[in-house]
Order: sequence, then structure tokens, then C-alpha cells
Amino acid sequence: MWKFANPIRHQILQTRWPTAGEAARSRLFSPIAIGNLEARSRTWVPAMVPWRATEDGFVTQQNLDWYRRFAEGRPGVLVVEATGVRDIPSGPLLRIGDDRFIPGLRKLVETVREASGGETRLFIQIIDFLAVKRRPEKAKYFQRFLTVDDHHRQALAAAMKQPVWLTASDDDVREFLQNADDELIEVVLTSRELEALRFGYRERVTDTHLKHIHDLPHELPAIFAAASERAREAGFHGVELHYAHAYTMAGFLSAQNDRADGYGGSRENRVRLPLEVYREVRRRVGNDYVVGVRFLADEVIAGGSRVEDAIFYAQEFARAGFDFLSLSKGGKFEDAQQPKVGQAVYPYTGQSGYECMPTVLSDEVGPFGRSVPLVAAVKKAVNESGFNPPVVATGGISTFEQAEEILRLGQADIVGMARQALADPDWFMKVRLGRGDEVRRCTYTNYCEALDQAHKPVTCKLWDKGRRVLEPPPWLTAD
Ligand SMILES: Cc1cc2nc3c(=O)[nH]c(=O)nc-3n(C[C@H](O)[C@H](O)[C@H](O)COP(=O)(O)O)c2cc1C
Ligand code: SF4
Repeated sequence: MWKFANPIRHQILQTRWPTAGEAARSRLFSPIAIGNLEARSRTWVPAMVPWRATEDGFVTQQNLDWYRRFAEGRPGVLVVEATGVRDIPSGPLLRIGDDRFIPGLRKLVETVREASGGETRLFIQIIDFLAVKRRPEKAKYFQRFLTVDDHHRQALAAAMKQPVWLTASDDDVREFLQNADDELIEVVLTSRELEALRFGYRERVTDTHLKHIHDLPHELPAIFAAASERAREAGFHGVELHYAHAYTMAGFLSAQNDRADGYGGSRENRVRLPLEVYREVRRRVGNDYVVGVRFLADEVIAGGSRVEDAIFYAQEFARAGFDFLSLSKGGKFEDAQQPKVGQAVYPYTGQSGYECMPTVLSDEVGPFGRSVPLVAAVKKAVNESGFNPPVVATGGISTFEQAEEILRLGQADIVGMARQALADPDWFMKVRLGRGDEVRRCTYTNYCEALDQAHKPVTCKLWDKGRRVLEPPPWLTAD
């Protein structure tokens, strides 16, 4: 995990919880329109992947139990984990890339409706991602994955001052490189080959020499639209298009996207496919269905998009008709740490990962609501350009006072809590009932994130206590 050079250990925020009356009169527990829907409160549980689906992407009983538990706390909105829009193997992550996934998802919808007494609005986050391979063993990489060509022969001949390499066989080049030291390997391999060796092969949206990447602008609108139609059919109140973090659509929005086919380069070109996807989704689900978006307020990587880009995108998204804008930050592959051999690179291990899920080991700003100023800048610009879709702020927000202040200052319209909701899904109910002092407070030390990184079922250390209990315990009320 990435760390600040001289981290400061912050204590979780001391706070005063509201009485039931104060909660009832608060902004946080007042309703808000999201598209043609009304959410009962401005509370929001953003998407969290729990690693509980079957290997084939179906909803399991564990998924149902997980979402039922969140629904019991009755947040205004609950967003189901990033769910794959394609029907391709992706481990125990939910999928929505075929009609056969609809019955399981419908069960999930019914479970949440029942557990929340119909109060919680349920959206599903839908995602496309490109190939990311595990870091290979060195020998395997050179024997099986490296495509030897003349560039390697020439580089070897020059580095070794031995022209004989110019006519060497593929096998000889592989054999030699496999046993070469790092310095020589660095001279002979391209930067992408080095990355494949040291981090595992990873596709980018800019790999337009690959047909399936070249064709993404042609393919993705229909794929997202079909997935959204299934979401509607399964009974979700809306879809959230995942344009954040390390995945395909964020790759298009990234300032690093220099595709030369009209879908990269300028901001206008980078936002083109995200808008085309939106329009096709809208065309297929109709105007009376909630379609929102999650994207980055800042990529937090060198050469990445900054808040000025986010403002531009937000205005474009609002103008196009998105029903809500949910902001996140960072979470990129570009600055991720090197994985161990046999493991895949994880986009939350670098500085950008820190900014996505900040911990109490922080800088002087601390982890609590540190991206709120960016969200506020985005919201202000969107509102000034004449649009008012609800804007969701998330990241290190765990007290009523924090949330209420964000809303009072107009920095966001809705407040999201991911880890705090995992630590205690009853936060919303407890605070509403004036029983905030019973909240199990998140300590922001990311045990949950480590499980996500290891692709293990996600739990919280506060109630799992190392025993691998998969569900938060029930709220044992005194009455
Ligand atoms: C275990 C785990 C899984 C997550 N999965 C997703 C996801 O599927 N999609 C997404 O947009 N964000 C995901 N996030 C990020 C959260 O939605 C949220 O933005 C982040 O945790 C910061 O908010 P917090 O401080 O309230 O936890 C995940 C976070 C955690 C801890
Ligand atoms: S494991 Fe629990 S306490 Fe720790 S950061 Fe995650 S949700 Fe918070």
C-alpha cells in the first residue's frame, strides 16, 4: 500500500449525534429527487464489490444476504457493486451481460425491497473492463508470452556488441533473455513488454492495433444499453454507468487517452464515447428511468485528468441528461504497486488508490472528506451552467455532522458512505432514530480493502474479527 513520506496518524472524528428530532429536520434525512424518482434521504451507499457471486457471475445467497443487510439500514440509495456488462469470465463478480442473469438480479431487487420496506432506492453499477493478466514467472514470460521480433535482435546485438544476434532464432533469444540481468532486459524489451513482465499484461483503450480495442466505440454503446435494459427488467430503480477508476470508460475519459480516431486527445473527443454510450442507454431504457454516472474528480496520476477535466465532463453529462453525478477519485493502474508473481496488479495500491479509499495514516489534510472540495467545484460549475442533477460526494465521510455540513454548504446534494456502511449498515437507521452513539465506527484502516485486493469475500474487521464472518451482526436494539 502506498504511504505518505511522513504519515500523520489521525483519530476518527469525535462527533455529536443528532436527536431523532434533529435528524428529522436535517438536510441529510430530507428527500431528494433523482430523475423521476424520489429518494427518502440524501444518504447513499456507493458500489462495493464483495466477491460473493458465483464464478459464472450469478447472484448467490451470500450476495442476497449482503444486500439485505445494507437494505435493513434503509439508506436513501444503495448501489449494487460493479457488475460486468459483458458475458465473459471475470471470477466471482456479478454479471449482467445476458438475460440468464436477470432472475438472480430480480431476486436481489426483491430482497432489498423487502428488507428496506420499499424505502431504499436500488441502482446497479455497470462496468466494462479490459484484460489484466497476472504477473508471470520470469521464465514463463520469456518462454511463452514474449513475441520475439527483429527489434529484440537488434537491441541485443547492439547491447552485446555481437552481430550474431541479428540472425539468432526465437528460441535462442528467449533462452538468453530469460537468464539475462535486469539491466540488459530493460534495454531490449519495450516499456510495454517490461510492464507485462513485471506487472502482468494489461490492455489500454489506446491499444488500437488490437481489433477489439479499436472497435470499442462501435461495440460499447449497444453492450451498455442491453445491460441497462436488463437492469430495468430485473426491477432496479436505475443504473449507474461506471466511468471511474481503472476501467474501460475511465480510460476514454483519461487525459492519457491519445486515441487518434476521434475518441481521444482533446477533452471533447475523450468524452465522446461516454456520451454515445449514455445516449444509447437512454434510447433503450427511456426517459422515465434513472441513468447516472460515476466518474473521477481527479485521476491522481501523472498526466491524468484533473478537476478541470471533471468539470468539463460533468457539464457535458448534465447537459446530455444524466440523472445524477457521483464523484470518486483516483484508483488507477498507472501508479499501482508491483504485484507478487501470480497476482494481478491492483489499482488501489498507489497514491491514486490512497485517494480513492483514504486511511487514517494520512497527510495534514486527513482522510475525512478530502475530496469534497473537488466535488464542490464540480457541483458549482454544473449548477452555474444551468443544470441541477444531484451530485454525490463520497470518501471518508462517517458522521452526521460532516454530512450535514457538506449539504449545508452546498458542496454536494447527497452524501455517500462506503466503508462506514460496511462497518455498520445500520448507520442510517441509528442516526435517524437519534441513536447515533450506537454506531459501530469505521476506523479507516482498510482491512476490507485488503480482502478486495486478495479477491476474497469482503468483510469488516470490526465484526469479522478474523473469523471470516460474512455478514454484519444484527443490530441488537435495547427495546
Ligand atoms: C471493498 C470495496 C469495494 C469497492 N468496490 C467499488 C465498486 O465496485 N465500484 C466503485 O465505484 N467503487 C468501489 N469502491 C469504492 C467505494 O465506492 C468508495 O468510493 C470508497 O470506498 C471511498 O468511500 P468511503 O471512504 O466512504 O469508503 C469500493 C470500496 C471498497 C472498500
Ligand atoms: S475493515 Fe471495517 S473498519 Fe476497517 S476500513 Fe473497512 S469498513 Fe472500516
